[in-house]
Order: sequence, then structure tokens, then C-alpha cells
Amino acid sequence: MTASFPALRMRRGRSAPWMREMLAEHRLHPSDLIWPLFICDGAGCEEPIRSLPGVSRWTVDRLGQRARLAVDAGIPCVALFPNTPQGLRTEDAREALNRENLICSGIKAIKDAVPNIGVLTDVALDLYTSHGHDGLTEDDGQVVNDHTVEILAHQALVQAEAGADIVAPSDMMDGRVAAIRDALEGEGHQHVAIMAYAAKYASAFYGPFRDAVGSSGRLKGDKRGYQMNPANVDEALREVELDLAEGADMVMVKPGLPYLDVLARVKDAFGVPTFAYQVSGEYAMIEAAAAAGAGDRDALMLETLLAFKRGGATGVLSYHALDAARLING
Ligand code: PBG
Repeated sequence: MTASFPALRMRRGRSAPWMREMLAEHRLHPSDLIWPLFICDGAGCEEPIRSLPGVSRWTVDRLGQRARLAVDAGIPCVALFPNTPQGLRTEDAREALNRENLICSGIKAIKDAVPNIGVLTDVALDLYTSHGHDGLTEDDGQVVNDHTVEILAHQALVQAEAGADIVAPSDMMDGRVAAIRDALEGEGHQHVAIMAYAAKYASAFYGPFRDAVGSSGRLKGDKRGYQMNPANVDEALREVELDLAEGADMVMVKPGLPYLDVLARVKDAFGVPTFAYQVSGEYAMIEAAAAAGAGDRDALMLETLLAFKRGGATGVLSYHALDAARLING
């Protein structure tokens, strides 16, 4: 039996900064963070993204410098998302397989400039399709699974050949992890890891991201036919189990803060490296709250990121990664 009041006073453990620091159960470290970077076509250019204040798209020639900032702040990995030129978006998403596309050029630029940073790439077709869906569509607008999976495996291979360290399928097609693992093994890319967006929900929090990658005006319908229903959590465990069985090295839950319960259950159930994606709408919410004087930006940022650690996350993808890492470093 533990003591109770007055023998036990919980406030003793909160009495001074050193005491609070000593008793902290969870800590946020720069190595917990993955920083997403948006890439745009052209040269020598930064394009601010209106709905993501403080975040920009960068041309390939500027990416090495971004990666350098990340590595200097102790961030181990960046995640790349291209804004594919509108004219290159087609029904069949063929630009996704172009070895010289924006993401492949981005991978090479970063690896040339900063060889010791990890590069994670998005495997899905929505940044390359004319209709903005993550897969190929049939005449009735339905996204087809198995044919899409063949293309995703090819896409992952193209990214691996360009130097990606981790490929991250975000499309939510069935069977894609197995197909990607198989393709990577078949071509000698045994060392390339897969981080599966295993429990990815059909969320209203992706709006600013779709602006950032130029697909917001395009999307016909919604993604509820393949992304998960926000009502479900048992289903998330099944998704994670399947992706692990198919060969995922790490899994992800997305979005982040509204799905901390899912994150905690996944981590408890499987004990595998589990990442959370604090998505664009979450970032925008924090920035808007701070701009409206409803909270201190840095404090909101660090508290939400720490919450992911408490919830069981191995790490967090966040647009705040660089600022957070710098604050932690002091
Ligand atoms: C692409 C993809 C999306 C995000 C990451 N990868 C958008 C979507 O599924 O519509 C969202 C990230 C964010 O909102 O920050 N499939």
C-alpha cells in the first residue's frame, strides 16, 4: 500500500524545475522527429504555402540546404512530397515512374549534399494523377486495387533506385506492402525499409497538404473508399497486423492528435516502431490559434509533440520538426 495524504504530497515532485526534469516520464528529442519537405519545379525558388504559414515548397537546388538545417538540429530523417507540375498529371500517373521526376531529383540532391540524413518517400499516386486519387480509377470513378498495387511497387522501386532509405506507402490499397517488399527484394534493395501508413484515416485534416501538393482543386469525390473510417479502431489493429505480416518494418498512424487512442493501442498491441503523423491541418490549427492570441505557439508545439511520445510514438512526422528541434536544443 502506498501512503496517502499528508504523508504523501504529490506536489513535492513538482516543486522545482530540476525535480520536474528528473521525474519526467517522457522526453521529446530531436531524433524523434521526421521533417516533411515539399518540392516544386524550377530553380532558385521558395514558394510559401498560404494555408501552411511558415512552410514553403523548395526547388531541388535548395533542398540540400534544408536537409543541412535538419541534420544540424539533430533531425534524423526528412520526408519528401513533390508538387508535380499540373501538365504532368495524367489518368495513369505515369510521372510517378519517371526516374527524373521531382521526388527522384530531390532524393539525389539531398543525398549529394547531406549523405548522413535519412530520406523517406511517399508511395501513392495522388501527386501524379489528374483526378487526385491515390490509385487508378475506373470509368465509374472507383479506385481499382490490384492494378494500382502493381504501379505502386514500381514507384517504390524507382524511388529506391534514386536513393530513398525508407519508402512509405500512404495509399491504403490492400496488399501493397507485400508487393513493394517483393519488388525491392527482387531488385537488390534489401536494405530499403518500409514505413507503412497502416492506419490512415479519411480525415478532414489533410486540406493544407492538398494545397501544398497542388491536388486540392482536382480531387473528384473523396477518399473514403480506401482510407479508414474515423469511427474505427479495431480495424486499425487489423490493418497494422496485415502490414506487418506483409513485411512493413515500421507502421504509422495518421492523423496524429485526434487519433492518440489508436496510436496507444497499436503500440501496446504490437510493440513495433510506431510513428504518428501530425498532419497539415493540425499544424495549421496550432498556427491559427497562436496567431489569434489563443495560445503560445512554441508551448503548443512542444506540448502536442510530447503528447505523441506519451501516447507511445517512436517518432513523429511534423511540419514543426525544425522549430521544435531548435527549441529543444536551446
Ligand atoms: C498522399 C498523402 C496525403 C498526406 C500524406 N500523404 C494526403 C491524402 O491522403 O490526401 C497528408 C499529409 C498532411 O495532411 O500533412 N497520399
